[in-house]
Amino acid sequence: MLSTLRLQFRFLAPLLLTLAAAAFLALPLLDNLTLRWFSRDLSLRGTLVTNTLSDSLVGALQEGNDARVQALFTRTVQDERLVALAACAPGGELLQRSAAYPGDLTCAGAAELANLPLPKLQLAGGTVHVGMHALELGGAHVADLVLLHDLSFVERRSEDTQKYLIAFMVALGAVIAVITVVVAQLSWRGWVKGARALLRGEGLLTPLMQNNHDLGPLADDFRDRLRDLEDAYRRSLDRDDQWDPERLRALLHAQLRGDELIVVSNREPYIHETGPDGVHFKRPASGLVTAVEPVMRACSGTWIAHGSGSADRSVVDKHDRVMVPPGSEEYTLRRIWLTPEEEQGYYYGFANEGLWPLCHVAHVRPVFRESDWEAYRRVNERFADAVVAEARSADPVVLVQDYHFALLPALIRQRLPRATILTFWHIPWPNPESFSICPWRTELLEGLLGSTILGFHTRFHCKNFIETVDRNLEARTEHEHSTVTINKQTTLVESYPISIAWPSDTQRAAWPSVADCRSAVRHRLGLGPAHKLAVGVDRFDYTKGILERIHAVERMLEKHPSWVGEFSLVQVAAPSRSDLDEYKAFQQRIHQVVGRVNARFGSPGYQAIYLLAEHHEHDAVTELYRAAEVCMVTSLHDGMNLVCKEFVAARDDEQGVMILSRFAGAAAELNEALIVNPYHVEESADALYRAITMPAAEQRERMANLRMTVRDFNVYRWAGRMLADAARWRLRERIEARMLRHNGD
Ligand code: F6P
Repeated sequence: MLSTLRLQFRFLAPLLLTLAAAAFLALPLLDNLTLRWFSRDLSLRGTLVTNTLSDSLVGALQEGNDARVQALFTRTVQDERLVALAACAPGGELLQRSAAYPGDLTCAGAAELANLPLPKLQLAGGTVHVGMHALELGGAHVADLVLLHDLSFVERRSEDTQKYLIAFMVALGAVIAVITVVVAQLSWRGWVKGARALLRGEGLLTPLMQNNHDLGPLADDFRDRLRDLEDAYRRSLDRDDQWDPERLRALLHAQLRGDELIVVSNREPYIHETGPDGVHFKRPASGLVTAVEPVMRACSGTWIAHGSGSADRSVVDKHDRVMVPPGSEEYTLRRIWLTPEEEQGYYYGFANEGLWPLCHVAHVRPVFRESDWEAYRRVNERFADAVVAEARSADPVVLVQDYHFALLPALIRQRLPRATILTFWHIPWPNPESFSICPWRTELLEGLLGSTILGFHTRFHCKNFIETVDRNLEARTEHEHSTVTINKQTTLVESYPISIAWPSDTQRAAWPSVADCRSAVRHRLGLGPAHKLAVGVDRFDYTKGILERIHAVERMLEKHPSWVGEFSLVQVAAPSRSDLDEYKAFQQRIHQVVGRVNARFGSPGYQAIYLLAEHHEHDAVTELYRAAEVCMVTSLHDGMNLVCKEFVAARDDEQGVMILSRFAGAAAELNEALIVNPYHVEESADALYRAITMPAAEQRERMANLRMTVRDFNVYRWAGRMLADAARWRLRERIEARMLRHNGD
């Protein structure tokens, strides 16, 4: 502050001195200038007086009438400005003069003075202006008239002007000084904050924006818009850029030099179970598995997950590993065994009663228990040890999946400091206020910030995360680059919209035709061939908007009764987390509501809603997708939702309508779907009616566009973008490490 004042003084002192000097120099100049202006005026005035007097004066002079000349002089000098007059003969002889005319001023002297640029003469009574004008008669020069005009008024005015000028300069100096002090104060504060922000790695605008509560949100908005535009631009550029397993493999080999990949998730990609016919395996209903499995098949490596199947232990080797997929064996699945207490506390408790409702806006209260937290920490530690055990190098690429492992990135970082850790959060990230409910929020954030890259489905979730960090940790956030630095560890927080693997030609060739799928499904349900079907495929979870979907069906049938008996919803609800009270209550409620709606509209051989609350394998789901006219995804809140993308991928006939909740991450990409607010039953009911009555041509147009989007923005691109970003970071870190070593030598 003191230095600011000193700085301002250093600036102001020369400025004020300059102003004073300017005033000092300007005053005589100004004096001189005004004197000349007045002198010119007086000369003109003299001419006027001469012209007025000319006839009478010449007459009186020629007549030699001195008394008349004096009378004329006396009358003329009554003018307050005119001091004295004299008449001179052409030869220079003084003919007549008024009383005040100085006796020692000869005609020659007056003529000499009158020819000066500034014709003035100092008399006892003050300064006078001397003018000499010819008196003529019929063009002949008969005499000269000398006029002495008072100049003291000019001096008086000049004094006034000087006073005004000095006052003006002083005022100007004061105004400049005040402005300088204010501007210097503001900019000094700005620069100090800016410099501090720079040191914290925040960029100059941030503190100014933070300081200004009106501009802050505007700047955030602006930044978000820019990032959205950037995304849209990148998407438009990327479109021609096809991603497939080969390209992903090539990227891994070229940019990551074939480094090993380790995936960690709670849910395993293959679950072995004991059935009546012995051990069989199933694929879980999980968006995470749907997305990550094709990546692992393309890249190979090790997938570490909880072994939850009843026959899981029977198929692993002595290191708890099994090669999968069963039959083709493309990568290693390393299973971790959890005790019932661990599973209860870590999975059911902390992850699914705490974090799951915390992150989803579905109006279910999160429950946080100390014992669950302890179990969560312990299990994260156990998985971190497993990563170390599976790593064949000191710097593996580890892909940590989802909210079950918020602590894992930092734990891996402690054990393998050179690892590249890519964490993907498959569910939404809430706003900072909601997240602050969690008693262990700082531990979770610090855990996640052990990652090299932290990915979310949408930019909005990234923004929420960064804001949460800002509120809860002493970390350096760089909004422009979307990075967070804490304890010298920088994490890139980016959006990577997840997707599915676009079905290959071979896979598609194995699908039954749409006609066959239609008749098979209708036959199973005992429905006629023209019966219209909507399909919903979800885990039996309260976030999926299943209740709202049923209400929409009910309302549509209410509004359009002609569709009763002609339309049904087939709802697949894969059992999920059924040990939890919240889930049990929700699942019971859905059964009740379905019963009520079916009782209202049903008839022998017809149900408005078919609730299939059991696990469906992928082929069965594909058959349903191909059999239905409409697919309904009405999640109340969803990270991405891959069901909608799977439906689109299954419709190679370019028919079928997608109804999609605006609260699912996928809504940002799938613009040709009918986007609805699932809480607005009327809107969803109308969308459903529109979908079942939509002309084939419109369906084709929409579906063709949707298919293009899902095909181009597939899961290989998702993984490819993350791995390419990781490769860049790895390279940078390696170069930095080399430079440090070099400097240390
Ligand atoms: O896709 C979101 C998700 O929570 C995954 O992270 C998870 O694997 C999946 O849903 C299924 O949940 P769960 O593994 O608890 O059955």
